Amino acid sequence: MNEEIPNLTAFDEAALDQAFARLERQAREAAALLSGEQAVEAFRLQWLGRKQGRLNEVSGRWLKTAPAEARRALGLRFNALKAVVEGLLDAALGSGPTDAALAREAIDITLPGTRRLTGAEHLITRTTNEIVSVFAALGYSVGVGPEVETDYYNFECMNFPPGHPARDTQDTLVIANQERRPQRDRLLLRTHTSPVQMRTMEMQPPPVRIVIPGRVHRNEADDATHSSTFYQVEGLCVDANITFSDLKGTLDHAMKALFGSAVKTRLFPSFFPFTEPSADLQISCIFCGGKGCRKCKESGWIELLGCGMVDPAVYAFAAEKQPAYDARKISGFAFGMGVERIAMMKYGVSEIGKFYAGDMRFLEQFV
Ligand code: PHE
Repeated sequence: MNEEIPNLTAFDEAALDQAFARLERQAREAAALLSGEQAVEAFRLQWLGRKQGRLNEVSGRWLKTAPAEARRALGLRFNALKAVVEGLLDAALGSGPTDAALAREAIDITLPGTRRLTGAEHLITRTTNEIVSVFAALGYSVGVGPEVETDYYNFECMNFPPGHPARDTQDTLVIANQERRPQRDRLLLRTHTSPVQMRTMEMQPPPVRIVIPGRVHRNEADDATHSSTFYQVEGLCVDANITFSDLKGTLDHAMKALFGSAVKTRLFPSFFPFTEPSADLQISCIFCGGKGCRKCKESGWIELLGCGMVDPAVYAFAAEKQPAYDARKISGFAFGMGVERIAMMKYGVSEIGKFYAGDMRFLEQFV
């Protein structure tokens, strides 16, 4: 803050020099700190204001009280000071913000900016799309169904009767507090995409050719190759005269399309309540070409999916809404595959958990 203008007691040259030098220093110091229009205007009023300005006070106190012989020397110094203050004001007005003000607002342009990553397909999405595309090219359409499913669709209509031991093969996560409902209406997290077979057949008479991608859940412990949440692609083909060789040929083509034309397939007997006969499809090991290695446990083959001819019991359930599902007139096959397993093989992923962890270092590798 500027101190008050003192009264002058001596008017010799040395005393005047000292008094004016002090004022000039004060003006310069004040001007150096100016930032912003308001501060500059305050400075102008403080120094050059007509009534309370410091220069006005100087001329009032000093010039008027000065002895006649000191007036000229005082006047010269006064004019010089005034010129300095006006110069400071001009500089403050014309030069924009001070260095101090600029420093306060400065942006550090050496900081790296915020990088906006381009989105990319997740490996699960990509693999799902690859599988779906293979079947789309064969004329299959795509369907989906609910993840929270009823006991009826997940099990009963797929020929797992209530209490049947086959239900134990799919450890189920059930929705709480459903006991008051009849068993068929109780809600659960679907353990497979197969219930959408029935939902599709109930909505349309044969012929049906559809693939159904989706998320499923099982009450399983997570390990390197198992996750309680995972993805499947289901397939269903129902028409007149569909045979087991159609199943074999379709899946052999699909595996060659997905893994390369050198891949061989074979069917191994299996069991599912909703297919008869049932099979597991195996492909020749894509890592060793079938010679035998650690990945295929020296067998040369890798088990990839479940399949079979649609069981007549399933058509009987479908016929409740669509009578055209008559096992004497139509036939068909179904299959279901795990997307993670296929993605892990195709892209060399060794731990299933990597798909869900959201670690950019993993995901970025497949952009
Ligand atoms: N739903 C079966 C599973 O999840 C797979 C499957 C689908 C088998 C269709 C046969 C036919 O294990």
